[in-house]
Amino acid sequence: MSLHHELAAGVYWVGQLDWNFRYAHGFSTDRGSSYNAYLIVDEKAALIDTVEAPFAEALLRDVAEIVPLDQLDYLVSLHVEPDHSGGVPAVLAACPNAKLVTSTPAGIKGLRAHYGPLEAVTVKTGDSLPLGRRGLHFVQTPMLHWPDNMAAFLPEEGILFSSDAFGQHYASSLRFDDQAPKERLFAEAAKYYANIVLPFGGPALKALEAIKPLNPRVIAPAHGVVWRSYLPEIFAKYEDWANHRDNGSAVVVYDTMWGATERMARAAAAAFMDRGVPVEVMGLQRNTVADVMALVMEAKYVAVGSSTQNTGVLPPMAAFLSYLKGLAPKNKTGFAFGSYGWSGQSPGLIQELMQELGWTLPWEPFRQLYAPTDEVLETLKQALIEKI
Ligand code: FEO
Repeated sequence: MSLHHELAAGVYWVGQLDWNFRYAHGFSTDRGSSYNAYLIVDEKAALIDTVEAPFAEALLRDVAEIVPLDQLDYLVSLHVEPDHSGGVPAVLAACPNAKLVTSTPAGIKGLRAHYGPLEAVTVKTGDSLPLGRRGLHFVQTPMLHWPDNMAAFLPEEGILFSSDAFGQHYASSLRFDDQAPKERLFAEAAKYYANIVLPFGGPALKALEAIKPLNPRVIAPAHGVVWRSYLPEIFAKYEDWANHRDNGSAVVVYDTMWGATERMARAAAAAFMDRGVPVEVMGLQRNTVADVMALVMEAKYVAVGSSTQNTGVLPPMAAFLSYLKGLAPKNKTGFAFGSYGWSGQSPGLIQELMQELGWTLPWEPFRQLYAPTDEVLETLKQALIEKI
């Protein structure tokens, strides 16, 4: 049974739900995801985006329930990443009259690099695609989150098909924002931004500048539920996140060999609590880097600690630091700490990365030989308290 929903007369969600999707290039997706494709049936019929290749057959089945496949006039590809373009070859094969429409130069280049010598109508910002009574107007949104991303606006219905922007990795049988539990929805939107869009704050602000004056009533992203009730709130969140604004909180991230660094993490957390700063403590043996990044994105203070192992940090911390470096959160105040047995490089290595990220660093790295005594933990706590 199909799950398509009508967003407006003749405008359908024909996406596919991937309930057990759990991993997106480093991003743990605990609530699955959806690959959102949309079908507009006017005098012409246009399919906006496809789905991951294994879901293409189900997509075609859902489209065929609405319009015969040989009557599809356009396949509009807003984004090359395979979770949206994986079904392009299958749709073109099944829909002999469908013309491929994509952005230039990056869209067509990317699609050909994935699927071979495709023919396409190429469009750029300002171009439109008449469909009859209505038409699509294109706005390129490069680096949200690949160079080819593009949004399409259907002004007669006020619907913006936003591609990755405003998405959530969130499989839901409910289609709209106001049908989903609000806190969960915004948490998923934040986690998605933190793990996918965070390095691209500048492009995100440019996209917001282009999108907001269109006054969309509905935002239909490439993943997750469709926004129709909380647009001002998600716009405000995107402005905060793109500008790297914090919410005043702290997060302590650590990995520990025999518990000494964990005790130091608890002492650091106690310092933040003492100063009335909301804090969360995230051990990397129990938490995914994606969940940690969702907290880091909005935190003011980020304390990071690791035991030293073989002149470096522990392997889960190495993975986290590599991920952190790539996502490059800005405007943080950092604190590096950790215990060691004989060489003790880890706090210095963590501090170096924080420096590279341009963070404020009011504290020296805090190193502890083997296990900290209660006095040492109190020293750590007081050192933090002085400058929080
Ligand atoms: Fe869901 Fe950048 O793709």
